[in-house]
Amino acid sequence: MTTTTSATDTTARTGGPRKKAVGFRRDLTAEDLAAYGLRDRWYPILPSHMVAAGEMKKVTRLGVDWVLFRNAQGKVHMLEDRCPHRSAPLSIGQHLGDRIACKYHGVQVDTTGTVVSVPGMPGCALEGKRATASLTVVEAADTIFAFVPLTEESEPTPFVLPDRLSDSEVSWFGNFAEWAGPWRFYMDNVLDPMHGAFLHRDSHSMFGGDVSARFRIRETDRGFFFEKTDQRGVNFDWVEYVRGSMDYVDLEIPYAENAGPGGVFGIVGMATPIDANNSAIFHWRTRRVQGWEREVWRFLYRTRLEQRHWEVLEQDREVLEAMAADGDVGEHLYQHDLGVTRIRRVYRADAKKQAAMLAGELV
Ligand code: FES
Ligand SMILES: [Fe+2]
Repeated sequence: MTTTTSATDTTARTGGPRKKAVGFRRDLTAEDLAAYGLRDRWYPILPSHMVAAGEMKKVTRLGVDWVLFRNAQGKVHMLEDRCPHRSAPLSIGQHLGDRIACKYHGVQVDTTGTVVSVPGMPGCALEGKRATASLTVVEAADTIFAFVPLTEESEPTPFVLPDRLSDSEVSWFGNFAEWAGPWRFYMDNVLDPMHGAFLHRDSHSMFGGDVSARFRIRETDRGFFFEKTDQRGVNFDWVEYVRGSMDYVDLEIPYAENAGPGGVFGIVGMATPIDANNSAIFHWRTRRVQGWEREVWRFLYRTRLEQRHWEVLEQDREVLEAMAADGDVGEHLYQHDLGVTRIRRVYRADAKKQAAMLAGELV
C-alpha cells in the first residue's frame, strides 16, 4: 500500500499536537476565538468592590464560567467554575478561605486549582492534581484584572496599566456596565469617533464642531491613532488604540467651562467579552488635575457629571444592543470607517494566529 503526504499535512504536523483553549473542551476555530474573545492578554473582569470578603462570585468571561473569591488576606483568586470531579459549579459550594468545597461530593479545590481533598475517598488519585484552571489575577485601578491564557502552557505577560491610570497627576473614576452586544461592536464604536457629532450631538460634551470631517490613521509603536485631519480639541476628534499587555482605547473630549478646573476629559475604555453576544464594558473617566482643583472636579463628578456621562454611554448602548447580530456584514463603509476596518483586520489576524496555535500549526 502506498501513502501520500501532501504539503499541507506536513505543515500541520510541524508545530505539535492540537491543544484546547483554557475553559473549553471542544476545539475552537478562528471564528470562535473572534466571537468569544482573543486570549493571551489581560482583561478587566469586575470592579473590585463587586467581590466581597467571604463571597463567591460567578462570572462568565470569554465564554467560560469562572468563580472569583478572596482568601483570608483579601487576595482575589479566579478559578474555572467547574469542579474537576463531575463539573458542578464551584460557586455554589462552600468558601473555606483558601479553598472551595464542592457542594456535590465535597471535593476541595485550592486557589491554584489543585484538588487538596476528596473526602468521599481519601488518598484517591485526584488528590494533588491541578485539575481546575486558575488564572493570574491583579487588582489595580479599583478593578480585578486577569490574564486569560490561550492554552495551559501560556505564560502571563507583565501587567501594565494604561498610561492615564498609572499617572499620579491624573484623577479617575471607574465605570462598569454590561451590554447585550458582541464585544467587537464596542471596539467598532470607539474606533468610530464621528458618531460623537451625531449620536451624542445633544450631550453636554459633544455638541460642538463640524459634522463632516476627514480622518487618517497614524501608526504608533503600540497601535494606531484614528483622528480627524481638520479638527482637534472640539469634539470626539481622535482615538488611540493601544496593544499593550491589555488592549484598550484612549480618547479625550473637551470639558465645558462649567465642568470645573483641570484638563480635558480623558477616557480609557476596554471591552471584555462575556460570551459571543454580551460584553463587560469598562471605562475610566479621567482628568489631569491636582490639589484643591482635584477635589472640586471629584465633587462635581459625583454630584453632576457622572449622571451626564452615563446618559452619553446609554446612547451608545442603545444603538449597539439594537443592531442585528450580523450588523457588521454587508455594510457600506466610507472614509470615516477606516478605523473600524483597521481594528477588524487586527483582530481577524489575531484570531487566525491563535487558532493556528491551537491546531498545533504554530508554536
Ligand atoms: S462534582 Fe464536585 S465533588 Fe463531585
Ligand atoms: Fe459614543
